[in-house]
Amino acid sequence: MRPGGDHYFSDTPQAPSDPKDVDVLLPGLALTLSSDAGVFSHGRLDDATRILLESAPAPPTDGVLLDLGCGYGPIALALAARSPAAQVIAVDVNGRARGLTDANATRNGLRNVTTYAPEAVPEELRFRAIYSNPPVRIGKAAMQRLLLHWLHRLEDGGVAHLVVGKHLGADSLARWLASQGFSVQRRSSRKSYRVLEVGGGEQ
Ligand SMILES: C[S@@+](CC[C@H](N)C(=O)[O-])C[C@H]1O[C@@H](n2cnc3c(N)ncnc32)[C@H](O)[C@@H]1O
Repeated sequence: MRPGGDHYFSDTPQAPSDPKDVDVLLPGLALTLSSDAGVFSHGRLDDATRILLESAPAPPTDGVLLDLGCGYGPIALALAARSPAAQVIAVDVNGRARGLTDANATRNGLRNVTTYAPEAVPEELRFRAIYSNPPVRIGKAAMQRLLLHWLHRLEDGGVAHLVVGKHLGADSLARWLASQGFSVQRRSSRKSYRVLEVGGGEQ
């Protein structure tokens, strides 16, 4: 729980607003993003997110890319900056997070980002790639349902890059994804995190 009594994945955080800027400095990329109370990783770039952005392969240059669980937008906006011809979809249950991602896109001049509540994403959209620091703390069953829903919306040949803490079950998640028919590879293992590359689910 966070001060104010809500989780970072509340739909409508109750914590009073406390905006803080975060400098996201990555090879070839510098963004300044606003974060806020009631949204994941207030005032800083999360370690797992940094590892994903530093070690996952460069995003496809075009197509539709998904950031599942966008928070204040570091992954979505890095994808948008690195692949200006792609269309980036940023999804979060947390309304304050979606508002920050929208504002941060505008602040950084990124026009290829669209933010949605999960249920508002157009049904027909399929994703060339998914990049996510997924909400492991919603619980195992909810996480599995969430991942199945979105991974089955990869286009043929599409790949998801997921960063998960080893202490939060990265290896058991990898085994479970494989048992569901996905191909799973460990692309990187740094600090206490793994970056999983997931593709090829049965439709
Ligand atoms: C670990 S945080 C990562 C946030 C952001 N991508 C970052 O790297 O700072 C996971 C995010 O998933 C969101 N989330 C939780 N449940 C969700 C769901 N069912 N659908 C979409 N997003 C969800 C949370 O609100 C949170 O912002």
